[in-house]
Amino acid sequence: MDSSMEQNILVTGGAGFIGTHTVVKLLKEGFKVSIIDNLDNSVLEAVDRVRELVGPNLSKKLEFNLGDLRNKEDIEKLFSKQRFDAVIHFAALKGVGESVGIPRRYYDNNLVGTINLYETMSKYNCKMMVFSSSATVYGEPKKIPACVEDFQLKALNPYGRTKLFLEEIARDIHRAEPEWRIVLLRYFNPVGAHESGRIGEDPKGIPNNLMPYIQQVAVGRQPELNVYGHDYPTKDGSAVRDYIHVMDLADGHIAALRKLFTDPKIGCTAYNLGTGRGTSVLEMVAAFEKASGKKIPMKVCPRRPGDSTVVYASTEKAEKELGWKAKYGVDEMCRDQWNWTNNNPWGYQKKL
Ligand code: NAD
Ligand code: UFG
Repeated sequence: MDSSMEQNILVTGGAGFIGTHTVVKLLKEGFKVSIIDNLDNSVLEAVDRVRELVGPNLSKKLEFNLGDLRNKEDIEKLFSKQRFDAVIHFAALKGVGESVGIPRRYYDNNLVGTINLYETMSKYNCKMMVFSSSATVYGEPKKIPACVEDFQLKALNPYGRTKLFLEEIARDIHRAEPEWRIVLLRYFNPVGAHESGRIGEDPKGIPNNLMPYIQQVAVGRQPELNVYGHDYPTKDGSAVRDYIHVMDLADGHIAALRKLFTDPKIGCTAYNLGTGRGTSVLEMVAAFEKASGKKIPMKVCPRRPGDSTVVYASTEKAEKELGWKAKYGVDEMCRDQWNWTNNNPWGYQKKL
């Protein structure tokens, strides 16, 4: 029997993009999973598709709870009826632009929700957490080529500040109560989808991020892609990012959990989850065109305020300490993103 067989994991935000892909992996690895999600940025259909992907037997080990982390009672209800070995905490609002306009909502949701979670975990003596952080905590990286975990951190907007504050809160909690084990995972740019094409990213409204935007252009939901910036000092003038396949990210969470369970000295530690490779906007468009056979019409626009020129990860620490390394490149990311979009042009909605 797999040693993880009896381990029970609470996944906050498990109905969302990264959450659903991670839950599939967790169940396949033999963990029991409870999701708590308020469906603010997701739909129940996504959880039904997770059940379909893992099949009826593993599906019995998955529980969905409609709940909001801002309501402590919603969290309390879960902990009072079962014991969790660890929590993977995805639930957050993630719109950079939106956070500038409505910062109070971001601070309330991301900070209050997380503090409620820590308090309840502490009360029930569950002191292991994998936290979704972001490359956004590197701000505008001064030193390149690659972001290293011990760089000085800086946030550029309210969303980024919630991630930075929550990293600091995690470090403070561990300093005050050293028995806590917390892994902070700094994701670079998550893209792609499960290879089945049954689950994927389905943003509400007009997408802010590059790949969801491209996917909507490919199926005619948007007329053209605005390329923000053509005069960056990069090989083709467009900005460079470290895109990472969401299934690689999901594996990164399994590696982080195993680390929590096996390393009493882990404390509170941050790891980058990226590929270590930079890809420009124009290269990403070309890779998607190749994977989909679709032409993506483009309009060159001025730079987007607040965007960095080049951001990519140093992957050494995660490789060495978590034994994790991304397997997929941009061709697989685009192949799977296209497979998802082609099969689900309107995301989880049947039709619009
Ligand atoms: P997502 O919006 O698809 O998933 C987040 C889920 O959390 C949603 O299902 C939402 O309904 C739920 N949620 C939000 N607030 C909640 C609350 N108060 N109570 C209960 N549920 C709540 O986002 P995602 O892309 O899957 O991101 C997951 C995590 O990764 C987030 O913390 C995000 O900030 C972080 N992250 C994402 C990216 C990215 O580009 N996708 C990059 C870096 C970090
Ligand atoms: N871009 C376009 N057109 C678009 C959307 C994006 O040209 O329609 C460009 C951007 O200007 C940028 C690149 O594509 O150069 C990537 O942009 P994304 O919005 O997809 O990603 P970012 O790197 O700006 O930010 C994302 C998340 C942040 C997170 C960061 C690091 O939105 O929350 O990755 O994880 F902090």
